[in-house]
Amino acid sequence: MPQLSGVDNADADRLRWWGIALIDALTNFSRDPEEETAVADAMADLDDVLTRALVRVRAAPDRSVLSHAVHAHRPTGQPRPESDLLPVLKQLAQAQLQAGWVGAWTLSALLADREVLAEVSDNRWLVGAAVNEALRWTPPLGNVTRRTTRAVALGGADVPAGATLSVRVASANRDERVFDDPDRFDVHRDVRTNLGFGAGPHGCPAFQFVMAVARTSVDVLLDRLPGLRPAPGWRPAPHGWKLRLPGPLNVVW
Ligand code: HEM
Repeated sequence: MPQLSGVDNADADRLRWWGIALIDALTNFSRDPEEETAVADAMADLDDVLTRALVRVRAAPDRSVLSHAVHAHRPTGQPRPESDLLPVLKQLAQAQLQAGWVGAWTLSALLADREVLAEVSDNRWLVGAAVNEALRWTPPLGNVTRRTTRAVALGGADVPAGATLSVRVASANRDERVFDDPDRFDVHRDVRTNLGFGAGPHGCPAFQFVMAVARTSVDVLLDRLPGLRPAPGWRPAPHGWKLRLPGPLNVVW
């Protein structure tokens, strides 16, 4: 992956560190100074790695995505400026991990229920439904933020202009007025729409990519590890609320 992306020294641990720091930066509602310092350290490291990679591919184009981003559709000798690229690259540098979040939640739900695991393994048409249901059941980003531009009445509360809202997508995804038995992981639901990728003009633009990668990973995993099942003693151990992840997925096959 580092070779493909063109970002050197970006092993899984480092990508995870950057990714979690970016999420922390977005969700540090209380402006916790310790968290701000930790985020600043991670971002300085990411800036440094990206800047070095940009300098390298600017001087010597290669076949990486990064090199393409720098040189594509630009006149010879006029690579795209760093200021245009850095914010996008920061997102992409950690985006490589994110599809794993939905894939891992799907796997966690399947491991926790042998019957559903068997059903999905035998009928791969259900893999897409399982991935979608995992996103509804436990969206990794259970929370989005907004600032009101004017006073508004919302859900029976009067919210003043300029208020910061922390909107619980995770709760909306288990709204009993929309989903029957909302706490149940159910791959046969009629209602498939959920808010796991936000909604409207600022909904997640990577929605289809993330779902395609998650679907494919679960499908390939079921092919390559026949008899996949939880390791003895495994119990789901989810953690985090700003970024909610399923914890270790110990399996045997
Ligand atoms: C499991 C993976 C992901 C989840 C659960 C997720 C979820 C979300 C959500 C809930 C929002 C809406 C935020 C809001 O309304 O304030 C959002 C926005 C966004 N996402 Fe994702 N996302 C994922 C992966 C990705 C990836 C891989 C990329 C880029 C390659 C990406 C790029 C973006 C961008 C640029 C926005 C902002 C869109 C805008 O403000 O117009 N996301 N995402």
